[in-house]
Amino acid sequence: MNNTASSLNNKKFLILGCGYSGSFFAKTIRKLGCTALTSSRSERKDSDSFVFNSENGRVPNRKIFDGVTHILSCIPPDKNGNDPVLSSLNDELKSLSLEWIGYLSTTGVYGNTRGDWVSEIDEPNPFQNRSHKRLNCEKEWIESGLPVQIYRLPGIYGPGRSTFDAIKNKKIRVISKKNQVFSRIHVADITNAIIYLLQNKNYLKFYQIINIADDEPCSQQEVIQYCYDLLGLTMPKPVLFEDAKEELSPMAQSFWMENRRVSNKLLCETLGYKLIYKNYRIGLQNCYLNS
Ligand SMILES: NC(=O)c1ccc[n+]([C@@H]2O[C@H](COP(=O)([O-])OP(=O)(O)OC[C@H]3O[C@@H](n4cnc5c(N)ncnc54)[C@H](OP(=O)(O)O)[C@@H]3O)[C@@H](O)[C@H]2O)c1
Repeated sequence: MNNTASSLNNKKFLILGCGYSGSFFAKTIRKLGCTALTSSRSERKDSDSFVFNSENGRVPNRKIFDGVTHILSCIPPDKNGNDPVLSSLNDELKSLSLEWIGYLSTTGVYGNTRGDWVSEIDEPNPFQNRSHKRLNCEKEWIESGLPVQIYRLPGIYGPGRSTFDAIKNKKIRVISKKNQVFSRIHVADITNAIIYLLQNKNYLKFYQIINIADDEPCSQQEVIQYCYDLLGLTMPKPVLFEDAKEELSPMAQSFWMENRRVSNKLLCETLGYKLIYKNYRIGLQNCYLNS
């Protein structure tokens, strides 16, 4: 089976919410001969982009949808916990002959497993309010009847968004919390895994929900230490979470309230995808070389 793609040639993709992951995906599939039109909430200069903003009701011109075969949505839930794409474009999507819709979700829907592994067969148990909203959006997508595949993602990193950038921008805090781990995924593996699944769609069993995570959940301190070592610098002394938490933003605090290891067995064993960056060390070397 292919780990790279070519048979997607000539397909037309809409990338709704072309931020960090969406841009990487768009750039990659264009190289494979696909058309990729991308949305943002405000006007951009490039001719392949269009405006979609569910907050002010700005929807794309009908012509944008002509001939679309594939859609990737990277847009988070709205403030009420509804999916912005389905709320604004449901009729439009239903009128198309779509082969596939991908929806980028989060592993936050699993909640806190106190460090245990979680997989797609585990019942979601959201802890944060935003994760309840996310789970609701997943449900809306599933109930839409559209040919959607949902990808649950842990912390996304890659060139321009990694611990190196945090160090460079002096936004680094080394916090230690006993037994706490985080799962993560390099942005290139999100794109490549999705392309792999699309490329092999006819041979693989269709799973509606798939985790895309690397092999090695680990502590944040271990990752930061690795970056300082690569830079040849001394890492600041870690601060205990209990001492640091008052100074953290509510969002930063919330990340430390959940502790889970996200399993990629469905993707990497059952479905046969080979990670490019199977752990943070290889992934960060890539970020280091591209920073
Ligand atoms: N960052 C992480 O570590 C992480 C982890 C797990 C899951 N996720 C989820 O995975 C998805 C992709 O993540 P990312 O970090 O690549 O996203 P990102 O860079 O934040 O991009 C999000 C995109 O959604 C667009 N958007 C937001 N609200 C919108 C609305 N109401 N109407 C229309 N467009 C809207 C943004 O428009 P503009 O371009 O105009 O800003 C942007 O293009 C997101 O849903 C994110 O929540 C992220």
